[in-house]
Amino acid sequence: MVPLRPYACGVTVLRAEQQPEWPDQAALQDVVARLRLLPPLVFAGECDQLKERLGAVARGEAFLLQGGDCAETFADSTADSIRDKLKTLLQMAVVLTYGARVPVVKVGRIAGQFAKPRSSAIETRDGVTLPSYRGDAVNGQEFTAEARRHDPERLLRVYNTSAATLNLVRAFTQGGLADLREVHAWNQGFVRGAGAGQRYEAMASDIDRAMAFMLACGVNPDALRAVDLYSSHEALLLDYERALTRIDSRTGLPYDVSGHLLWVGERTRALDGAHIEFAASVRNPVAVKLGPATTSEEALALVDRLDPDGEPGRLTFVSRMGAERVRDALPPLVDKVTASGAVVAWVCDPMHGNTYEAPDGLKTRRFNDVIEEVQGFFEVHRDLGTCPGGIHMELTGDDVTECIGGSGGLVESDLPMRYQTACDPRLNHQQSLELAFLVAEMLAAR
Ligand code: TRP
Ligand code: MN
Repeated sequence: MVPLRPYACGVTVLRAEQQPEWPDQAALQDVVARLRLLPPLVFAGECDQLKERLGAVARGEAFLLQGGDCAETFADSTADSIRDKLKTLLQMAVVLTYGARVPVVKVGRIAGQFAKPRSSAIETRDGVTLPSYRGDAVNGQEFTAEARRHDPERLLRVYNTSAATLNLVRAFTQGGLADLREVHAWNQGFVRGAGAGQRYEAMASDIDRAMAFMLACGVNPDALRAVDLYSSHEALLLDYERALTRIDSRTGLPYDVSGHLLWVGERTRALDGAHIEFAASVRNPVAVKLGPATTSEEALALVDRLDPDGEPGRLTFVSRMGAERVRDALPPLVDKVTASGAVVAWVCDPMHGNTYEAPDGLKTRRFNDVIEEVQGFFEVHRDLGTCPGGIHMELTGDDVTECIGGSGGLVESDLPMRYQTACDPRLNHQQSLELAFLVAEMLAAR
């Protein structure tokens, strides 16, 4: 593969929002120096390949499925949890591919999603105030002064956990687990009771027949044996992302080799901020989250900054408007960006605009709101004659009780049963599969 040498980038003078307050700068610099010497987690050539596939998404020739935890944690980066998340993504991908007959580009919120922006820097419980939890990359979830201290050594654990996760992802996706002949096996071990599981079994039997037919006809089975699953995370902690930015020896250009696709969040996407400057400086495909307050001028300026050469697949806009706002807030952005001649991929994040607090204080989302936002997203693109490029989901393969609704009928009082997220509520396995069937129908009807 392509050797990369370290990229000596300067320290920015621009304002970086949402950065940790590392207590000891010397300790941070020591960690950064060690990170700079570590091998890349992903290769520049893979980033280019994903960029090409996202170009197909932007042109309406493929659909993006991006999903995973809101926040990965070191403790939950176990073989079982990673395998079940992958099986869930594979099931969703096959439902979309089979149901809508379009190629699906698969991207995990995985192997690097360890840092979280927070609305408040502090948290108070029973009169005690401590720094907020900012993801395992920065501090611990436990509500003690010791756990909540910002510790740069954690950045090395992010690197190591990401490497181990990616290793397993590559083994699973290339080594047999993702073989389409295993389509039934991906459903095993999951609660199969209600609608989506049964519907999946029926579809898997159809696929089995279709594959037996193709193989009997002598079709080359190589394409059926493996999938490419790319990694993505929010590029939030600039000390970490810069330390993992390297010059690609083939092209002489900088790539952030901590993940294939990096995104900039709604809270850090200021045009004159350090995050956008960083995203502009690397050659990976990049994405930006757009909330309902985004103006067309901002969207156009982001296109100028991040995709000055008009390279399809370079820039993805992930809208997170909320089910109530998507139909009025999204059209002006899509309209103006399209009129400018830019070719960006439009992706729907139906999670972050639909969070509310249940009476017992737990953050949750209604399955119906999630579906409603995706539906609105498809309608907006249909009305404008543009392409709905994909979905960006917070989900897990585990049987958690974090979002309400779906055919499993979870209600607010069920939430405490298995509420396990380190940050935002995720769809559980069954809700994810059900969503995939509904989105496949929208995509097929497009
Ligand atoms: N390689 C093809 C693809 O990625 C077919 C395929 C193999 C597939 N295993 C899969 C598709 C699992 C979806 C899920 O589309
Ligand atoms: Mn989230």
